[in-house]
Amino acid sequence: MVLCSVKCHTSLDGEVLPEPIAGAAELFALDPSVAHLNHGSYGAVPIPVQQAQERLRIEQERDPDAFLLEAPGRVAETRRAVAAVLGADPDGLALLTNVTEAVAVALDSIAFARGDEILVTDHGYGVVTRAAERRAAECGATVRTLALPLDGGDDAAATAVLAALRPRTRVAILDRITSPTARAIATGPLVRALAERGVITVVDAAHAPGMLGVEQEIGGADFWFGNLHKWAFAPRPTAVLAVRPEWRERVRPLTYSWEHEQGYPARVEWRGTGDYTGWLAAPTGLALLAELGVERVRAHNERLAGYGQLALAELAGLAALPASPGVAMRALRLPPGVAQDESSAKALMAAVRSRLGARIAVRPWAGGGVLRISAQVYNRPQEYRTLASGLARLL
Ligand SMILES: Cc1ncc(COP(=O)(O)O)c(C=O)c1O
Repeated sequence: MVLCSVKCHTSLDGEVLPEPIAGAAELFALDPSVAHLNHGSYGAVPIPVQQAQERLRIEQERDPDAFLLEAPGRVAETRRAVAAVLGADPDGLALLTNVTEAVAVALDSIAFARGDEILVTDHGYGVVTRAAERRAAECGATVRTLALPLDGGDDAAATAVLAALRPRTRVAILDRITSPTARAIATGPLVRALAERGVITVVDAAHAPGMLGVEQEIGGADFWFGNLHKWAFAPRPTAVLAVRPEWRERVRPLTYSWEHEQGYPARVEWRGTGDYTGWLAAPTGLALLAELGVERVRAHNERLAGYGQLALAELAGLAALPASPGVAMRALRLPPGVAQDESSAKALMAAVRSRLGARIAVRPWAGGGVLRISAQVYNRPQEYRTLASGLARLL
């Protein structure tokens, strides 16, 4: 029997497909001549959210003084609204530009001693790892990268992380969902197990808001951050940082600002004169997601991503990598020799765009790169089949 949590129909080869969500694709302004199968990298802002931000920009330009004088209060209101939707402690949540900034804030807030170790994995986001290396170099700490097999399951990853701890492992930076491989690593149980062992947990949950039910886990990590502009339909760039109570007074904002004396979270959010309209429009994105039906969207996207992976495996002969529950992205291994370094991975993405009319993500990996597809309410099964048949020729 086929289990389907959304309305389904079957494809030619008997696979169960999610029924498109009526009217959802029309909410986006994407170029119809391109198959946007890479929602995970930058998201896509729905038209009503773009309009909400535009209204705020117009309001700002009618009276910039009033708008910017009142902005800290409106940012605080927005933060509370976002916290309520995510199920986060409003006193622990700060709005930030993106994960790139959030990891810098987290790392700057931890006082490292010489010889401390930061543990990361080879599925981690490159810039996050580089940020850890920079901070470690400043403090005489070290970064150790744990290699996780591409074909291992989530439990195996958690076991490997715990087994990799050493006496000087002070911090673990782990992905809630990895970027190249779309795998869930920093799940609640692993974060708790690390905390029990006295390890400070920094969770890169870039993809989690909007894609996963995150309420249960936000308060568990010492530092947890995610983008709202990927899967929560917020204007780009909008992110949240959640910090456990014991760290809040120690959080070091990236810049000093007039809000500094307000303490965390306001002092982290306010960056002087800037464009805060994207943040203020973020609740419109969350409301739109709720209107479409959060569970319906999640079920649709997860199932469609699974279908896309199957199409690529069957029609392009790529090796499917393990999938994690609830994740609307899937990864596949490219043949040996393909996309093994940064420039050939970029060249393949460009060729897929120019010759196959599709956007995908490709990350280099020794022995054959990793291709990642995403699924969002504007995608259709045919797009993955077309990509798969084209790739079979291209490769
Ligand atoms: C896991 C992960 N971490 C961090 C980032 C960086 O996000 P941003 O560029 O919004 O800072 C990304 C972006 O794709 C990501 O996938």
